[in-house]
Amino acid sequence: MISAGGTREALDPVRYLGNRSSGRQGWALARVAAARGADVVLVAANVTDPAPFGVRTVVVESAEELRSAMVAEAPGADVVVMAAAVADFRPVSVAGTKLKKGGPAEPAAVELSRTADVLAELVTARPAGQVVVGFAAETGDAEGDVLTHARAKLARKGVDLLVVNDVSAGRVFGREENEVTVLSDDGTATPLPAARKDDVAAGIWDAVTRRLPVT
Ligand code: CTP
Ligand code: CA
Repeated sequence: MISAGGTREALDPVRYLGNRSSGRQGWALARVAAARGADVVLVAANVTDPAPFGVRTVVVESAEELRSAMVAEAPGADVVVMAAAVADFRPVSVAGTKLKKGGPAEPAAVELSRTADVLAELVTARPAGQVVVGFAAETGDAEGDVLTHARAKLARKGVDLLVVNDVSAGRVFGREENEVTVLSDDGTATPLPAARKDDVAAGIWDAVTRRLPVT
């Protein structure tokens, strides 16, 4: 099971808060998994590309819709990959009609509240043997470099693997190529060479496959 794309949180019937995820790495993961013979469910948040051949797609828009779809389907999955960029915050109130300039509801500020952490919920509820994979786009800062932040996130989230993107200086978003490091909860960090997203997906699935129980 794979989530991909980026969620949108409505402000009014025509506007939303969103993010820059193209969904292409998640699509590549779905395509490669299906080609390797897996039964794939793709929870797709706001991606217009056609679903990869042989993949069952569940279309969602908001973080809450994505959460419902994942929670409903994840218990039956051998592997759960959260490649979607999930909104961390949503507007506290959603206007039922379009917000107009100069109208009585003209917002001075948008009040936000936290969304549920889907990955944390999936980790808590996971069945024995299920491999759970998170994604993280990080930048280095005064508190530490990209891998330091990523290691802390892997531990905090309780995932088996964390696929880390270095997004310093506008890298990655919307590009055809990707360059990631796969962090494992055993402490190892496996850098995958910069490559097309299908090749990166193959490297990620190789790392996942090594974690699957032998049947
Ligand atoms: N994620 C999620 N639900 C959320 C936010 C994030 O399931 N509400 C998942 C993402 O799909 C990703 C992983 O958690 O696989 C890490 O996302 P990230 O945004 O890096 O982590 P956050 O805990 O939101 O931390 P940050 O404050 O750095 O954004
Ligand atoms: Ca986040």
